[in-house]
Amino acid sequence: MQRVLILDFGGQYNQLIARRVRENSVYCEVRPYDMPLEEIRRFAPIGIIFTGGPNSVYLPDAPKVDPGLFELGIPILGICYGCQLLAQMLGGRVTAAQDDTAREYGKTETVFDPDCTLFRGLPERSVTWMSHGDYMAAVPEGFRLVAHSAACPTVGICDERRKFYGLQFHPEVRHSVYGGEMLHNFLYAVCGAVGDWTMADYKQKTVAALREKIGDGRVLLALSGGVDSSVAAALLAEAVGSQLSCVFVDHGLMRLNEGDEVEAAFARWDLNFIRVNAQERFLQRLAGVTEPEEKRKIIGEEFIRVFEQVGREIGSVEYLVQGTIYPDVIESGKGEAAVIKSHHNVGGLPDYVDFKEIIEPLRLLFKDEVRQLGRELGLPEYLVMRQPFPGPGLGIRVIGEITREKLEMLRQADAIFREEIARAGLDQSSSQYFAALSNMRSVGVMGDGRSYDYAVVLRSVQTSDFMTADWTRLPYELLDAVSVRIVNEVRGINRVLYDITSKPPATVEFE
Ligand code: XMP
Repeated sequence: MQRVLILDFGGQYNQLIARRVRENSVYCEVRPYDMPLEEIRRFAPIGIIFTGGPNSVYLPDAPKVDPGLFELGIPILGICYGCQLLAQMLGGRVTAAQDDTAREYGKTETVFDPDCTLFRGLPERSVTWMSHGDYMAAVPEGFRLVAHSAACPTVGICDERRKFYGLQFHPEVRHSVYGGEMLHNFLYAVCGAVGDWTMADYKQKTVAALREKIGDGRVLLALSGGVDSSVAAALLAEAVGSQLSCVFVDHGLMRLNEGDEVEAAFARWDLNFIRVNAQERFLQRLAGVTEPEEKRKIIGEEFIRVFEQVGREIGSVEYLVQGTIYPDVIESGKGEAAVIKSHHNVGGLPDYVDFKEIIEPLRLLFKDEVRQLGRELGLPEYLVMRQPFPGPGLGIRVIGEITREKLEMLRQADAIFREEIARAGLDQSSSQYFAALSNMRSVGVMGDGRSYDYAVVLRSVQTSDFMTADWTRLPYELLDAVSVRIVNEVRGINRVLYDITSKPPATVEFE
């Protein structure tokens, strides 16, 4: 399989570059900028991309690559910082832009030379996304200028002989109107990509590799019903079938019918699907607990206890499967961020039991690739396109103390909200939507009587990475229909609120 190497200089769009390359059916990996030359040789990329980054190339501690990289005969595309680095290291000059000259942020009208392979077949003028305070004051020998804007004369450079290209803007960002085509040109016209990265292929190769690795060993997987663990389960089921045990811990904090749906989806494989009905156990441990972090910790810990118990009952399990995906791998290379919430991911258990090995069959895939793989494996669309659902489930959507009655109310209200969103055709356009039960009760009037019931909160957000999110502008008619139905159909709720807070300052979930 052909591979592209993305050397990471710390830019904010680095994951996006990798996704764009993969979208072009070319496999790539993101590695630190100081990856040793020998390792790069072994990696044998068909092309290398230098990402953007927060530094200035002319400062003493600026991250650089091994100059030997330029002698490997491999095409290079430098983006933003990567472009400046290319220029600087090959004999050009980069300086800080003076005030308004050549410093650019945001959408910028840019002019291109269509003779450059990167811009082949594209309009001579189009909008690009800029974000730079430095610029190339002198272009290195052998390069020519192939793009400029009103403020900056050196937006694009290329040396077609050595196949080195530099772009001052970010082609990976959608605001760069033809950025995708430029990356496509780099991959196909410059690097000679053939487009051999497909999920059908990945499935076939991974299934074969898993069979070889596992032999006749036993495998254990914690199945939450979320996309990642479901796809991992389907992959392992395809590879080793009955040697696999999928443990689905129903902690009673699932949405309406969720347990049955997950179970039904896995019925077609000859695997050991073990559903542990642990509702009572969780409810008992959670009784009287109101503090969000404490709730999270109890649910996480209890989950592990149940899982351990099942593991012991099955006995002699050699492998544990985790649904780690590529963004987690890339992110984990970064420094510690402040802990806002202690996430409990049932697909990501700690290595608390003595397994021979932990298998992470999705660790090189982005979310959209995981979904695609799920389809290849024949998982139903509603599972594959499922919105994220937190490990602690409704436990962190019932605000305050969790009781059976509150869970029941919330399940019904949430199902109505999801049903109406789907009916309005908005289920694929909202990133995540759900109901939460507040611990506020208020007075209402129903029929001729007074009510003193709970308020349910609807939440819907738009986001690409869940690190930040904006609340969805849902149509009033839809909100009205949901409100009428919930108050009429769910006993114990007499008020419906819509959350119009973004993240930050709020978070997506309530606890
Ligand atoms: P927050 O509330 O932190 O949520 O803004 C961001 C995204 O993460 C999901 N989430 C979780 N997922 N275990 C998970 O697997 C958790 O404990 C957890 N807490 C929040 C949340 O649903 C949203 O998609």
